[in-house]
Amino acid sequence: MCYLRWAAVRISSASFQKPHRLELMRRLPFFSVLLCLLFCLSCVKPQADYRPTTTIKDLMDSIVDPAADTIWGSVAIINGKETKAPHTEKDWVTIRRSALQLAEASNLLQIPGRHVAKPGERNEQGIELQPEQIERLINQDRQAWISLAHGLNDAANLAINAAEAKDTAKVLESGSQIDEACEHCHQRYWYPHSAQSTINQSNNK
Ligand code: HEC
Repeated sequence: MCYLRWAAVRISSASFQKPHRLELMRRLPFFSVLLCLLFCLSCVKPQADYRPTTTIKDLMDSIVDPAADTIWGSVAIINGKETKAPHTEKDWVTIRRSALQLAEASNLLQIPGRHVAKPGERNEQGIELQPEQIERLINQDRQAWISLAHGLNDAANLAINAAEAKDTAKVLESGSQIDEACEHCHQRYWYPHSAQSTINQSNNK
């Protein structure tokens, strides 16, 4: 016990001896350079693995919209009567494939660095936001964008389950949830002022 206390006193007094402090001061420039180097290294961006060369507009047009159309078009009920429904194995496979495309498209939408549209592409003036405005909204609150993409993922998973269970009623149910997921996102990012502009247009007539 006594030996331990003696050793502790030795160590603490040793660390305050003059030569030691001088030695530290002499090495100060070396440590500062080392710190700077470490800091700079931490600033170097790691090379991204994803290559989001296509745009959100492209994803909508080439994956999201056609996949949703296939699901919506697979069941039809007119005047309460089912006039179209999947029957064959091929019908169910087609619905499942489209649902998988939607589910994975929701992940593609979240890849960082993906632009909304190609430079110079314009949206309908006065009704839709322009791509750069949409991009600003997304970057301001990425979490909101991600949770709306998750909404699409949830709805697409309902459609996957419905196809696997070969359940027509569930396909129909997933179809309306998919529709809601599209609209929730569009109302926030694509045409958030469209309701207002329709009111203004009818007032101006
Ligand atoms: C997470 C957000 C989000 C979800 C979910 C989403 N969209 Fe979109 N969508 C957008 C944005 C943003 C645009 C506007 C891009 C642009 O044209 O500048 C857009 C544009 C579109 C367009 C126009 C594309 C073009 O060529 O101009 C279509 C069609 C479309 N969406 C269909 C759908 C359908 C169908 C669904 C649901 C199955 C869906 N979207 C779900 C964000 C979303």
